[in-house]
Amino acid sequence: MPALTLDRLLASIGFGSRKEARALVRMGFVELDGKVLEDPFMEFKERPECITVNGEEVTTQEKLYVMLHKPVDVECSHNPRDHESVYSLLPDRFTAMGIQSVGRLDADSEGLLLLSNQGDFIHRVESPKKGLFKYYRVGLARPFTAEQEAELLKGVMLKDERRPVLAREIRVEGDTVVIAIGEGLYHQVRRMFAAVGNHVVTLKREAIGPVALDETLGKGGWRFLTDSEVASLM
Ligand code: URA
Repeated sequence: MPALTLDRLLASIGFGSRKEARALVRMGFVELDGKVLEDPFMEFKERPECITVNGEEVTTQEKLYVMLHKPVDVECSHNPRDHESVYSLLPDRFTAMGIQSVGRLDADSEGLLLLSNQGDFIHRVESPKKGLFKYYRVGLARPFTAEQEAELLKGVMLKDERRPVLAREIRVEGDTVVIAIGEGLYHQVRRMFAAVGNHVVTLKREAIGPVALDETLGKGGWRFLTDSEVASLM
């Protein structure tokens, strides 16, 4: 393995090519422990935990595991059509590091969105076979009846799908309904409620498996997942 030089380190965490990283160093924009680093080829025996670039202290981990509180009117796409992209809510360097959302939320849905640049993690969390249920809180246009609940728990057939999909759990809480599902089909929750004659007006994802949305994050806020949250999803 080539030595971990400062330019390599910076490039690996999304600060451009190695050439661009060297330019950042030469301009005096990179500090470690309060000291400006002048040599772009300085070698590290171990990755320092944090480094300061352009006045901002950043962690140097290459693997990204992020939770975002997605607001409505934001799209889960690198090339959004009608709204801002979720990626514009994160540092640009994450895009350079290959971050992707784990599944998607509709533009008019909000709540927990996980993002990562680790394909195995994304695949695992998305895969219905891994048994991670996703929990959504919905506001409905019409009263939610016991018949609708029973139908959802039994399973409903959605257009263009091969098999019925079912609610794994349903809880009525005040004037909202919390539903857990195992898959992540296109518009799944909205289509399931429509299939039983209701209509979803508001939709918020509150949890994926054991990881709940951190409510201290305001809409559009993000944080890294903790090691134990990552482990609990794997
Ligand atoms: N189901 C939906 O219908 N929309 C979402 O955004 C997520 C799940």
